[in-house]
Amino acid sequence: QTAGSIQVAENSFIKKLKSSGRSLVVFYGSQTGTGEEFAGRLAKEGVRYKMKGMVADPEECDMEELTKLQDIPNSLAVFCMATYGEGDPTDNAMEFYEWLKSGEPDLTGLNYAVFGLGNKTYEHYNAVAIYLDKRLEELGATRVHELGLGDDDANIEDDFITWKDRFWPAVCEKFNIESTGEEELTRQFRLVSHQPEEIPSENVFTGEIARLHTYQVQRPPYDAKNPFLAQITVNRELHKGGDRSCLHVELDISESKMRYEAGDHVAIYPINDTNLVDRLGALTKADMDEIFSLINTDLESSKKHPFPCPTSYRTALSHYLEITAVPRTHILRELAEYCSDEEDKKKLLLMATNSQEGKELYHSFVVDACRNIVHILEDIKSCKPPLDHLCELLPRLQPRYYSISSSPKLYPETVHITAVVVEYKTSTGRVNKGVATTWLAQHKPEAGKPLPRVPVYIRKSQFRLPLQTQTPIIMVGPGTGFAPFRGFLQERALARANGKEVGENILYYGCRHRDQDYIYQEELEKYEKDGDVQLNVAFSRDQEHKVYVTHLLQNNIDKIWDVIGNRNGHFYVCGDAKNMAVDVRNIVLKAVQEKGGRTEAEAAQFLKKLDSMKKYSSDVWS
Ligand code: FAD
Ligand code: 2AM
Repeated sequence: QTAGSIQVAENSFIKKLKSSGRSLVVFYGSQTGTGEEFAGRLAKEGVRYKMKGMVADPEECDMEELTKLQDIPNSLAVFCMATYGEGDPTDNAMEFYEWLKSGEPDLTGLNYAVFGLGNKTYEHYNAVAIYLDKRLEELGATRVHELGLGDDDANIEDDFITWKDRFWPAVCEKFNIESTGEEELTRQFRLVSHQPEEIPSENVFTGEIARLHTYQVQRPPYDAKNPFLAQITVNRELHKGGDRSCLHVELDISESKMRYEAGDHVAIYPINDTNLVDRLGALTKADMDEIFSLINTDLESSKKHPFPCPTSYRTALSHYLEITAVPRTHILRELAEYCSDEEDKKKLLLMATNSQEGKELYHSFVVDACRNIVHILEDIKSCKPPLDHLCELLPRLQPRYYSISSSPKLYPETVHITAVVVEYKTSTGRVNKGVATTWLAQHKPEAGKPLPRVPVYIRKSQFRLPLQTQTPIIMVGPGTGFAPFRGFLQERALARANGKEVGENILYYGCRHRDQDYIYQEELEKYEKDGDVQLNVAFSRDQEHKVYVTHLLQNNIDKIWDVIGNRNGHFYVCGDAKNMAVDVRNIVLKAVQEKGGRTEAEAAQFLKKLDSMKKYSSDVWS
């Protein structure tokens, strides 16, 4: 038995469109579900214009059929495409992207529009969508509406609704159609409640990601749809003081056949906080043990269920749904239907509009106040949605990635992670907690319970040590940005102990206070004593003015140039994408200009070359 999302039956999207009387197909390139969600919203809104829509995963479709879409009158293909990493498409869009790049299909007659999902803190902002929009035109297709670019660093929801509010009028004009005034509040999934006697308990999902019983009978290979249940063997606090917490966790992968290299990531499937799950159950007056299925009303869709079904509400809220994220506006619009108080209803509807007033209210009430679905139902008291509808609307709970902080050369049987616990107070006085890190923090040995197992898989990265141990390296990793460098240092120290010639290991690490959050201090000082690392540590809050890794780097631009310019060395940066990584890159650019005697443009060119040769690598997140 499988969850709907992985069933692939028919790859002709044209056939599906024709047999169900549709003319709109919305493709998505999605890694964390947002692109897919946006695609679903657009497809659903088509009914307003008598343009029945369908969502499609390019990986499951014969994309060459784009050349024939014009056979369907008034047909339109929309693409909601995310950009990842170094300007790369998502896994599910990779093949389509390569096909467009290398082939010369004639797309004359194809009507299209593109919305991109990106993040401005990264280089190559929305590169995939920008390329796709241009390339489709080059191949003869007709752009129905201008490219939309969503910035996840600001507010991608805002960007999306602003774009689509102009997109629909453009579509109407192109096809000479009008809004029917019909709302698309029809449910996408139909609720089926199961009586306990009609469904054997072994057929009920209890948190498995895709297939039933994968946690009872574990079978490699392990990946995102088939994670390995790794035993937590160590979970200890790294901070010595202060009010924040940073965990060192070790996961046993010895039985998994999974291999990793220093620099890879491990993904963890977290479980939502029990109190919050119960609170949501109480607010919606649901029987949390009820077994139910949500079944797609669109029989053509390859996604039969929004998450593995049948299951209980408790399991769905604990394992399958993101209940702590800030809800998007389409959820608020659907919630409005369940308000008994007119003022409450108006407020929710207003927040879901594209008006200035609506946007401002959405920002202040939801985004800035970090209100999750529980908080919204607590504060908009007359809103009483049925839990099954919420289960349809909430996004799928995503795995969290961690830069592995060990080397397999020393620890072939365990992966280590270094995670700072997310907890912050909001303007409404509530304390919000990160899903994965809070769950980890609750499972320390001190809690008295045996340490649990956790579903994980390993994602290969491009963040790699140089092949030659003699190559000198500079590593910049403040805070948990140090994580992958712990693995790097372990590996290089071992190489030296084994008699190999090892180049310089220059580390820039930063934290707030020497005596509070200097993680792995003893290990680092031992490496320094043994000559395995040149340590440069910035304590940002131990003196009046801030001292950051960037300040230390700035004083050493001679050395930066010497390593990357003269000695063929590698430069690595890990941690905060938004400010730190950008500042560091600028300092390196300055070093290339000032010490390498390059102009600004030449320095940029030089660094780009290092990027492509993987001699300047970043592992950053925001
Ligand atoms: P979530 O439930 O996901 O909550 C986090 C969200 O809460 C944030 O996205 C933000 O929207 C919100 N938030 C957080 N603080 C505030 C605040 N003060 N005010 C308002 N909103 C706030 N993390 C590590 O600790 N160590 C690592 O080595 C590491 N490596 C990573 C590598 C990669 C490639 C990526 C993509 C991420 C990495 N992360 C790492 C981050 C990690 O994946 C998680 O995002 C992080 O642990 C939080 O997860 P969570 O489930 O506890 O919090
Ligand atoms: P702060 O919290 O005192 O501002 C790890 O998070 C360390 O990185 C902290 O000491 C933090 O300092 C520091 N930090 C914050 N912004 C930074 C930046 N733009 N560049 C380098 N380090 C930074």
